[in-house]
Amino acid sequence: MFKTIVRKTNNEISAEAFQIMKEVVTSKQNPVLGLATGSSPIGLYKKMIEDHEKNGTSYKKCVTFNLDEYVGLPKNHEQSYYTFMYTNLFNHIDIPQENIHIPDGTAANEEQACKDYEDAMKKYTVDIQVLGIGSDGHIAFNEPGTPFTEETHLMKLTEQTRRDNARFFDGDINKVPMKAITQGLASIMRAKKIILIATGANKADAIRGMINGPKTIDCPASILQNHPDVTVIMDEAAAAKL
Ligand code: F6R
Repeated sequence: MFKTIVRKTNNEISAEAFQIMKEVVTSKQNPVLGLATGSSPIGLYKKMIEDHEKNGTSYKKCVTFNLDEYVGLPKNHEQSYYTFMYTNLFNHIDIPQENIHIPDGTAANEEQACKDYEDAMKKYTVDIQVLGIGSDGHIAFNEPGTPFTEETHLMKLTEQTRRDNARFFDGDINKVPMKAITQGLASIMRAKKIILIATGANKADAIRGMINGPKTIDCPASILQNHPDVTVIMDEAAAAKL
């Protein structure tokens, strides 16, 4: 079941997402947060940091699980999702380091790293999962064609995703890693509540496919039609084809 919220500016979109996040963070004893990287959640993370600094909202009792990580980038690489999360959020709030979970893209045994991550996740239930969406309808790095039943797994990135992400790698697609470790669609679906943030005209087809299209692995996000509590927060351009 989707609830859709359309707002004009990024600031308004982030404010809507933040309100939902804060309600979870402040109402649960030990909140479990599912977090995403990419441009979509940056405004939300800024609001979490501002609120932590101004109002003292604490993350000491939070546990986090990130969606995904590139394979082969060192943790301290400026484009690793590890670096992204520490730079854009974790360095600025009071979450204990041991409560943070990000898939290990540097593990020698990648399959084992996937299994270990899923096992760690299964000790918890994610209270709120933050998602972005790819222009091809991917969520996390579950590219079109990924079975809905997958748990954390290795994913070969599509040409389109690598092209979309080349902007972070000096515009050079050859510098974008070929693979990622990603939570699967089944892992994501276990979250109690999901917020998905999308902006820009290049997301309009994916948003339409997710909400109004058939439930198909060609649009991985369409699995969210089966989830009881998804709020999609977007701008007018992303909502244009609904
Ligand atoms: C990030 C992730 C990806 C992004 C998606 C949209 O952890 O899992 O699915 O959410 O590629 O990226 P942006 O927000 O940069 O448009």
